[in-house]
Amino acid sequence: MCGIVGYLGPSQNSVQIVLEGLKRLEYRGYDSAGVSFIDEHNQMQNFKKAGKLENLKSELVGKNLVARTCIGHTRWATHGGVTDNNAHPHSNDILSIIHNGIIENAHDLKSQLEKEGVVFKSETDSESFLELVTFELRKGMPIAQAISQSFKKIHGNSSFVVLYPKTGEIYAIKRGAPLVAGINDVTSEALVSSDPYALAGMVHKLYFPEDEVLLHLSAGNHHLINFYELDLTKTKRYLSKKQDLSVQVSEKGEFEHFMLKEIHEQPELIRGLTQYYFGGEGYESLTRVAKLKPMRILVSACGTAAYAGMVAKDFFEGLNRIPTIVELASEFRYRNPIIQANDLGLFVSQSGETADTLAAQAMCKKAGIQTVSIVNVEGSTLFRDCDENLLIRAGVEIGVASTKAFTQQVLTARLLAAALSGKLDDADYRVKLAGKFSLLAERIDQLLANIDNIKNIAESIYHKKGFFYTGRGVYFPIALEGALKLKEIAYVHAEGYAAGELKHGPIALIDEDIVNIAIIAPDLYEKTISNVQENKARKGIIVGIGQLGDKEGTRLSDYYIGVDFKGLDELAPLYINVVNQLLAYYMAKFKGTDIDKPRNLAKSVTVE
Ligand code: F6R
Repeated sequence: MCGIVGYLGPSQNSVQIVLEGLKRLEYRGYDSAGVSFIDEHNQMQNFKKAGKLENLKSELVGKNLVARTCIGHTRWATHGGVTDNNAHPHSNDILSIIHNGIIENAHDLKSQLEKEGVVFKSETDSESFLELVTFELRKGMPIAQAISQSFKKIHGNSSFVVLYPKTGEIYAIKRGAPLVAGINDVTSEALVSSDPYALAGMVHKLYFPEDEVLLHLSAGNHHLINFYELDLTKTKRYLSKKQDLSVQVSEKGEFEHFMLKEIHEQPELIRGLTQYYFGGEGYESLTRVAKLKPMRILVSACGTAAYAGMVAKDFFEGLNRIPTIVELASEFRYRNPIIQANDLGLFVSQSGETADTLAAQAMCKKAGIQTVSIVNVEGSTLFRDCDENLLIRAGVEIGVASTKAFTQQVLTARLLAAALSGKLDDADYRVKLAGKFSLLAERIDQLLANIDNIKNIAESIYHKKGFFYTGRGVYFPIALEGALKLKEIAYVHAEGYAAGELKHGPIALIDEDIVNIAIIAPDLYEKTISNVQENKARKGIIVGIGQLGDKEGTRLSDYYIGVDFKGLDELAPLYINVVNQLLAYYMAKFKGTDIDKPRNLAKSVTVE
């Protein structure tokens, strides 16, 4: 969703620093960008433009950008169209603000303020916060109090950064939306952002404030950043952590897109994960979670992470016989789900900031059960809110379409299943499981070294009308994930279906312009073959993904991708998933879409 960066310090280059931070946040998806800064004459300057960051940069060419304090924003439109006017910052003569989230009562607030004579310049909900704070300031309230009082009046999840030109200071506050601050105490710089990644290499220490903690960034502060409760008493309600992210991860290297780079990173990440959990620090966290001995596991997540949860269910039920319920977090949070003592709430997320997943976690916590995350971003809100965390160690995922995170999430769930079975201490078992992980990494390496067949098939089918991905059992979530990847980056209609289910309706759609990407796995082989036959009989184009050398699969398929399932057992779905990732990637490439930043999408969905 929206990206936020604020800088305060001795450097006169604050605008460039903020633009660099915003550039790093481009991967999250956005449609406009803007900055406010205090120039060398102590005047506030505001620039904002719809479209890419480049548009904003062009607008800034030739301007005097000497400034020590700056805030910047990349917007992902919710309230109001994509226009210069609706872009952030929103400012008036005394204040400038940037916002990430949704102000649910904006309409009411705006009506009240309009009655007081306020004239709004944009269609956004965000501007209501600007004018609310301004209203209090005009009444004579000091700035910190004006912000905290106004914040109390808004509903919904949001984070705000406020630039106050009168003192040259920055304030920030959040509820249920990501916010991180950082300091470089050598250079006396303080920064704030919606994503620690924007601050990589710029700060030594990160601070993750809890909800409703007001941050005050000031060059005059002994601590550069001070933290306050809403009643303005000092607080320690924040987590601090050394900043150890590297900036290099943001480079594509030899790859044309981040998505392709991230697909290729998978074998190394699998090896890293094995080491972390079998030989390293991860082992302790697994054993702690296993000690919880849950009677049931309630998995909540969204999108790709929810599909990873579906594969995890297969492990927990198949290997551990622990009843597991997987629900989309956006549904779970608004139902009245049965949550029982001894249930374990398990939340899967790459970003750790997905609003619905956070709400599901909060519900489970409130119900009094233990909550555990399978998460990528250490220090994210989910990471902080859960009782225990299992890190997936995928590194920064820049491509909006999640690839490597899925693989690591599923493998982390497999490790949790191993821990829950009590066999993790058994050396033979560990060697066997580590061997399987290593075989998976090897097979993916081989696949990535021989992608011509997949590329050629992608070229032959990318222009077709629609795609049905089919699979049975644990390959059903893989079919769902394959279809999701294709639709999000190639903008083509695709659906994932349990292979046996097509004949209950969707088969009516099959004709010579519809492709069935059929996962023909060794499990339920004959039944799957029959399903493929049904689609072929209706002239569907069959792309079979099955065992190398399988005659029947090859004969039935118009195009066949032979893979070696042997020895991978329950990890084989991950191998097939990489085939689907590559198919989606190359189809999108032939279509010429913006693969790393597909239209309408954001990397981290921080609004519900
Ligand atoms: C799809 C994709 C999304 C995310 C979903 C959850 O490629 O990336 O479906 O999986 O928005 O995001 P996280 O994992 O950050 O909670």
